Amino acid sequence: MAKYQIAWMPGDGIGVDVMDAARIVLDKLRLDAEYAHADIGWEFWCKEGDALPQRTIDLLKNTTCALFGAITSKPKDEAERELIPELRGQGRSYRSPIVRLRQMFDLYSNLRPCKAYPGNPLNYRDDVDLVVFRENTEGLYAGVEFRPVPDEVRAMLLKHNPAMGRFKDVPAGDLAITARIITRKGASRIVRSAFDYAQGHGYKAVTLVEKPNVLRETSGLMVDAAREVAGDYPDLQLWDTNIDAQVMWLLKNPKDYGVLVTSNMFGDILSDLCAQLVGGLGFASSGNLGEEYAVFEPTHGSAPKYARQYKVNPMAMLLTAKLMLDWLGESDKAEALEKAIAGVVKDGKVRTYDMGGKNTTIEVAQAVADRL
Ligand code: IPM
Ligand code: MG
Repeated sequence: MAKYQIAWMPGDGIGVDVMDAARIVLDKLRLDAEYAHADIGWEFWCKEGDALPQRTIDLLKNTTCALFGAITSKPKDEAERELIPELRGQGRSYRSPIVRLRQMFDLYSNLRPCKAYPGNPLNYRDDVDLVVFRENTEGLYAGVEFRPVPDEVRAMLLKHNPAMGRFKDVPAGDLAITARIITRKGASRIVRSAFDYAQGHGYKAVTLVEKPNVLRETSGLMVDAAREVAGDYPDLQLWDTNIDAQVMWLLKNPKDYGVLVTSNMFGDILSDLCAQLVGGLGFASSGNLGEEYAVFEPTHGSAPKYARQYKVNPMAMLLTAKLMLDWLGESDKAEALEKAIAGVVKDGKVRTYDMGGKNTTIEVAQAVADRL
C-alpha cells in the first residue's frame, strides 16, 4: 500500500482541467500516493440532491487528505430549479460542499499564501509576500440565518438587545437575520495557527484584521483571544487593524505586511484582494487544515465556460499541490515544485492566455514537470 491515500475530487467545471495538471507534477515527483476519486459538485446536487454525497464523506474518512479542484455554487432559487424534477419541492437546500467539508472535518484554518513570483506580468508588484489565515468554520459562515424571522427569535432579540428596537415592526417576511458566531476556541486556534506559521517562517509580526470599533462583541472577542495568544510568542508582535483601512494599506504598502489573520467572511474577501496583488486567482492556493485532516483547493471557482478546454492557468492548483506536500511533510518535493513553478513563470516561454500566452493548462503543467 502507498504511503498516502489521497482523495481526488475534481468537482465542477475547470476543476477537472486543473486536477489533470496537478497529476502530471505529482507523478513526476513520484509521490508515494494512491489517488481515490470522490464524487462532489453540482452534478450530484442536480441528480441526487446532494453535492456532497455520504459515500464521499465515508471515502474521505479513510484517506490521508484530499485534493480538490473547484466547485460551482448558486443561490437558493437557482439551485432548486436545476434539480431533476423528482427531487424538486422537497425542501432540499443547497449548501456549498466545500463549506460543509470545512465544518464537518473541523478544518478550522484556511491557509492562503499570496506570493508574487517575479516575471509574472499579472503581478501588481513583484515584492508581495502575504499569507492570509482565514478562520474556516464559524463567523458569518456558521449558517445560522433566518428569512422569515420566527417571532420567538425576534422577541428574544428585542428582549436582550435594545438595538433590535428599530426593527420591531418590520414584517417577518421582509426581515433577514444572520448570526456572526465567534467562539473563544475558534478565535484562539486560528490566531495560534497564524503565530505558529509566523514563528516557523521568520516573520516578525502577525496582523489581526477585524472591525472591533463596530462589531464590538464578535470582533472584540477575536481581539481579546489574539492578545492572549500573542502572550505565548514574546518574539512576535501583534498588530491589530480594521479591515477597511487594512485593505487600503495592502494596496498602498503591501510590503509592510506578512502574516494576516481574520474571521471567516473577512478572510474570504481579504484573500481575494491579496490574490489579485500576485496575479489573481490563477495564482491563489489554499489549504483547509484541521488537526488531523486537510483539504487542499485552489481559491478560484469552477469557471464553467472554460470547462474541459484546458485553457485556464493551472498555477493556483500546482501551488496548492505544493501546500499539500508541505502538510504531508514532503518538504523537499514541495520546495522543488515551488522552484519549478517560479522558474516557468520567470522564464515566460510557456504561459496560459491570462498571462498573455497561448499554451494549454497541460503544457504549463508539463513545463513545470520538466524542471523537476
Ligand atoms: C472561497 C470561496 C468559497 C467561500 C465559496 C465557493 C463558498 O469563495 O473558498 O474563498 O466563500 O469560502
Ligand atoms: Mg472566496
